[in-house]
Amino acid sequence: ACSSGAGNDPASYPDDDIEVVVPFAAGGPTDTVTRMIAEPMAEELGVQLVVQNVEGAGGTVGAGQVAAEDPDGYTVLMHHIGMSTAPALYGEQLAYDPVEDFETVGLVTEVPMTVIARSDFEPDTFEDFVTYVQEHESEVTMATAGEGAASDLCGRLLTTALGVEVTVVPYDGTGPAMEDLVGRQVDFMCDQTTNTTGQITEGTVKAYAVTTPERIESLPDLPTTAEAGQPDVAVSVWHGLYVPAGTPPEVVEKLTAALQVALEDQSVIDQMAELGTTPVDAERATPEAHTELLTEQIATWGDVIGTQGG
Ligand code: MLT
Repeated sequence: ACSSGAGNDPASYPDDDIEVVVPFAAGGPTDTVTRMIAEPMAEELGVQLVVQNVEGAGGTVGAGQVAAEDPDGYTVLMHHIGMSTAPALYGEQLAYDPVEDFETVGLVTEVPMTVIARSDFEPDTFEDFVTYVQEHESEVTMATAGEGAASDLCGRLLTTALGVEVTVVPYDGTGPAMEDLVGRQVDFMCDQTTNTTGQITEGTVKAYAVTTPERIESLPDLPTTAEAGQPDVAVSVWHGLYVPAGTPPEVVEKLTAALQVALEDQSVIDQMAELGTTPVDAERATPEAHTELLTEQIATWGDVIGTQGG
């Protein structure tokens, strides 16, 4: 709900700051993408976009909080592929329905993931990593941002493909997880290039593979998981903006328009390119394209997680 109780007249929207909830800790990839687009969106809307990190339970705490907010356009949620895995992971415990309790605003970007480890982890190649983890599964630790996180989903794909059960260490985001990985307190994780590119190029972590069908320009020496013999470890983390269900269409339209302007902003394009990703095309930064992908992904990951035993 807006702080000053500004009028909720859709025609004059926005006439107050807008809160953008990031359901993971500051400094992680979801936070990074949000802060990239917040400024050009704020410029377009003529108000401040105030980013709030609401951590917990793989992003489901923050998403649940936004679902319960007033549908007046003054609370927006940035979320990613985890919006589509939560129903299968949490079932009845999930406090919201990703489709029924939100309006989609539009897709933002799709981010590759990288399999990385602490810099002194023994294996040097992805093939060696696979063998090492298979031989030491009871000793190795994998960091995630909690059940429902993209790092959790990629971690599931990885451990299922390797046929191993490792010790999972959950964090409130892969920002804090990365701190422990660089500090060699945890062995490996699968995380988005928006968080790992800098660490990989600086050598503070060891990188094994990227989870996209093709190699990426920002990390040209990193083989794909498919090249390295694990084609099932394939995932790109799509991000989208949401508002609570019932938000007036003219309010959603203004947010979608501002998102599209932000995604064509050269500084956003350049920042994303440096971090291994690109903004989605304008026709995907729409409620229709976003809803289509969300519903398809809920079905897809529901099946995958269902076969993994949840
Ligand atoms: C994830 O694993 O879902 C994200 O990397 C979490 C985050 O943005 O911190």
